[in-house]
Amino acid sequence: MRLFITFEGIEGSGKTTQIQLLRSHVEQKGYRCQITREPGGCRIGNKIRDILMDSDNETLTPMSELYLIMANRAQHVTEVIEPALKAQKILICDRFHDATIAYQGFARGMALDLIETLNQTVTKGVKPDLTILLDCPVEVGLKRARGRMAAEDSSWKEGRFEGERGDFHQRVRDAYLTIAKAEPDRIKVVDGSRDGHTVEREIRRLVNPFLK
Ligand code: TMP
Repeated sequence: MRLFITFEGIEGSGKTTQIQLLRSHVEQKGYRCQITREPGGCRIGNKIRDILMDSDNETLTPMSELYLIMANRAQHVTEVIEPALKAQKILICDRFHDATIAYQGFARGMALDLIETLNQTVTKGVKPDLTILLDCPVEVGLKRARGRMAAEDSSWKEGRFEGERGDFHQRVRDAYLTIAKAEPDRIKVVDGSRDGHTVEREIRRLVNPFLK
């Protein structure tokens, strides 16, 4: 069946773990499921991701960052998202267009109308059926994210966003909650600071009505 689910949240909100758990759940029910992510998601997208995440790229301007993200999305929608949905799969994407509104719009201060226009163009109007916003306090998320980075030596270089100050992440969290309030039917806020099993159960409860 064709279903497009996105996950959003600040760093360390638990998206990666919960996406894997949701995949197991829907596959157990017999559905075909594919996981993808942004930035990244396809060969060219992964090259763009490397530029975006590299903590050595301190001089990347907010405008360059925005257009790299949009170039990634244009490629990813055409190469991965549209084909997966056309093939009647359940597609779970780790971050999508809401992330740009939260990070580049509210947190970096780029014009929201420019972001909306670019999003509309590069997604060709493809929108998630359901968005799970894993919400948690910034201290909780950053502690998890930095712990993970310390454990995986290689991800130190991937820390351009994690390296931002606490108030940046607070703006991202507040932005996500504002975006969710504006579209309550699509975006469901899940308290990601609770234990993983409780979060997993709530996400299943939100996804099950979409499964035939
Ligand atoms: P993640 O893969 O650990 O979720 O990290 C991806 C980072 O990219 C995260 O810090 C948020 C950032 N990002 C944006 O700033 N704008 C976007 O549109 C997307 C998709 C991600």
